[in-house]
Amino acid sequence: EQINKGKYEHYMQKEIHEQPESLTTTMRGRLIRGGLCKSKSVLLGGLKDHLKTIRRSRRIVFIGCGTSYNAALAARPILEELSGIPVTMEIASDLLDRQGHMYREDTAVFVSQSGETADTLQALEYAQENGALCVGITNTVGSAIARNTHCGVHLNAGCEIGVASTKAYTSQIVAMAMLALAIGADTISSQERREAIIEGLFDLPGKVKEVLKLDQEMKDLAKLLIAEQSLLVFGRGYNYATALEGALKVKEVALMHSEGILAGEMKHGPLALVDETLPIVVIATRDACFSKQQSVIQQLHARKGRLIVMCTKGDAASVCVGGSCRVIEVPQVEDCLQPVINIVPLQLLAYHLTVLRGHNVDQPRNLAKSVTTQ
Ligand code: G6P
Repeated sequence: EQINKGKYEHYMQKEIHEQPESLTTTMRGRLIRGGLCKSKSVLLGGLKDHLKTIRRSRRIVFIGCGTSYNAALAARPILEELSGIPVTMEIASDLLDRQGHMYREDTAVFVSQSGETADTLQALEYAQENGALCVGITNTVGSAIARNTHCGVHLNAGCEIGVASTKAYTSQIVAMAMLALAIGADTISSQERREAIIEGLFDLPGKVKEVLKLDQEMKDLAKLLIAEQSLLVFGRGYNYATALEGALKVKEVALMHSEGILAGEMKHGPLALVDETLPIVVIATRDACFSKQQSVIQQLHARKGRLIVMCTKGDAASVCVGGSCRVIEVPQVEDCLQPVINIVPLQLLAYHLTVLRGHNVDQPRNLAKSVTTQ
């Protein structure tokens, strides 16, 4: 049943729309609301014997490729906040090219939907040789990465067929948010924050259902953008990863040049590209970076940028002052979980752009679901 398209035309479309369910299965049995007086907590069975070692590590290193790397980037801020441990990011091939340092005191977290990506697997061997504790986050029970790590978390997102990863991405973010909650579980000062995130996780599938209602709106937007050569996506903070991942989807399947840009770097180059023709998506949902994003929008308006602003429901008027722009309004969730919501309209946009441009959605030219050679 998992591997037919059901009522959908393409696997990618099906996988985008089944995210409320895939997120539910990723969290099933892992979130505990506790009884009277008992606090909320997270239970990750695959990690329980190693949590103490992880908490003692000097550094947590995320390693992955493509969408899996972007998911880790989305989870990085909450991992840093709740663990109190420095978190660094490695694209697997780059770690290998540099032969970057790995230490016995490191926890290396390998993120891979398939669990078979050649570079990630080789980076795992490298980390093992250097004595790091290796954690696997995969969607494939019995995969090479699942087998060869010391411990891990299975995504349980269900089989993903579309070459462009969608439901695995959102499940990866949630799995890593749960990892952050588990590592930080003993810290009294962050208990309230953790409980708010756990409540947010319970509500998340419902909010994803809500954001999926933007399907027709994203199709209309895709019609407007069908003939464009390029699309920029600006994000920062929790949603820097959303900008990278949104651009990756557009590039991979719609075969349109697209670039995710860290908004804080706008003045260091990207601003030169801005004119009245180039479409730019700006992610400006409510979080600690909101006022900085408002100022980015104003500066893009001042250069007559053609803006599509993603904002929190009800914020359209406050994000679009001083110019005209198209707005995508999304439901608000706990800040660190907002990337799960914000990527959905961009997945839908990439999907519709692809169909309208007449390209192969599930098998984009030149790409493979799992890159098992280097
Ligand atoms: C390929 C796929 C991507 C995926 C990447 C990493 O490029 O087309 O969708 O994100 O590999 O794959 P992994 O299985 O390691 O997550």
